[in-house]
Amino acid sequence: MAAPTISKEQADASFSKGLEGIVAGETSVCSIEQGGLWYRGYEIHDLALHATFEEVAFVLLEGHKPSASELARFKGELVAERPLPAPVTNFIESMGGSLHSGRAVPMDILRTCVSMLGHLDPDSQSVEQAANLRKAKRLLAKIPTMIGHMQNVIDGKAIIERERGGDPTLDHAANLLYLMTGSKPAKEYARVVDVSLILYAEHDFNASTFTTRVIAGTLSDMHGAVCGGIAALKGPLHGGANEMAMEMLKEIMHDVGEAAIGTKAVNDWMQKAFDTKRKLMGFGHRVYKNGDHRAPILHKLGRTIATTDTKNPGGHAAIKWFDLGEQVQKIMLDKKNIHPNVDFPCGMTYFTMGIPVPQYTPIFVASRMSGWCAHIIEQHANNRIIRPLSRYIGEAPRQWNG
Ligand code: SDX
Repeated sequence: MAAPTISKEQADASFSKGLEGIVAGETSVCSIEQGGLWYRGYEIHDLALHATFEEVAFVLLEGHKPSASELARFKGELVAERPLPAPVTNFIESMGGSLHSGRAVPMDILRTCVSMLGHLDPDSQSVEQAANLRKAKRLLAKIPTMIGHMQNVIDGKAIIERERGGDPTLDHAANLLYLMTGSKPAKEYARVVDVSLILYAEHDFNASTFTTRVIAGTLSDMHGAVCGGIAALKGPLHGGANEMAMEMLKEIMHDVGEAAIGTKAVNDWMQKAFDTKRKLMGFGHRVYKNGDHRAPILHKLGRTIATTDTKNPGGHAAIKWFDLGEQVQKIMLDKKNIHPNVDFPCGMTYFTMGIPVPQYTPIFVASRMSGWCAHIIEQHANNRIIRPLSRYIGEAPRQWNG
């Protein structure tokens, strides 16, 4: 089929900055609309209420709800694949100084670890469906181990569960928390993280997923595509917003003081932000203009555990963060008609559970790995290289020796 040649007028007509509103491809993995969010036809509230992250990851990767035996096999495969190869663990241990100095951040360490796994994976260069599925499970299993080992190094502790990559009796979310702290989490904490992983798992052609598809579209390999996805997700306009949203709340709390929550002082702070055209992290969305279906689900869960008045870094009762967050949300809606996205409640919820802020976006990776790999598999299975046009706005033609 001849490549389409289009006129300048047609190019101008088809141009949309940031590809806003442009359908860039077809997918069976996910549907996201103002009215709802579905993974392979299953609606997000249904999944958050009735499924576990392992079941959701299976649906995304395999396309159907797992039978009991399929789920048992899948979970067994993930547990078996949790441990990291020694070179990767040694690399994480060697990064203590960079992590402590801030030269290296967890998202960058994660990206390097995934790249190293690509050199060690027996299926690394294959783009075949079965090989891709094997690689997807290995990546899904190993990201929580990387996060846990990294946190141990940051805390100056010995690596927890170096050999096993966790406790085989713990599910994905619980094991992630266990690897980070060395203590087995309370059931309600594990379930809240499990639901957050379900909510973060997949979201159609978001920036990081589209990045993985563009890389896979050249028939490059899954590890390379996922490295691109991690780099894209790190950005504060995308996944990095969950960390920045919490930092913003900490900044407001510091500036106005806990006693000022609910008062005009917070309104004044927000007005100053509006006056300086500051982007407030955790708010707004390219597709959702009437609210992110995932946000209220996580907000409710987070507020529930915060009511047990857990003390957090900074010593404020956890519920204060939700009181402040709800006031900020109301001001954003009243003044800007902008709703919170899933990253806003995520920040408060993870903070309530004492999860270190720099691990929020890596946990997003632990979840979105399932969506990325599903899209990479789909792209490889029915591929056409992704190569859009551009609209030229540069210099007119000119002679070099003119
Ligand atoms: C995720 O795409 C996905 O699906 C992503 C995601 C997923 O699951 O993969 O849902 C996860 O990344 C959620 C988004 C996390 N990012 C943030 O919270 C960062 C803050 N949000 C903004 O940067 C912004 O809302 C984006 C990036 C999310 C969306 O950007 P758009 O669609 O390009 O919107 P825009 O920047 O053009 O904003 C439109 C208007 C602008 O006002 P004007 O300049 O036209 O006067 O709304 C304003 C913006 O200034 N606006 C904001 C704002 N978001 C939009 N103003 C202040 N604070 C904000 N957060």
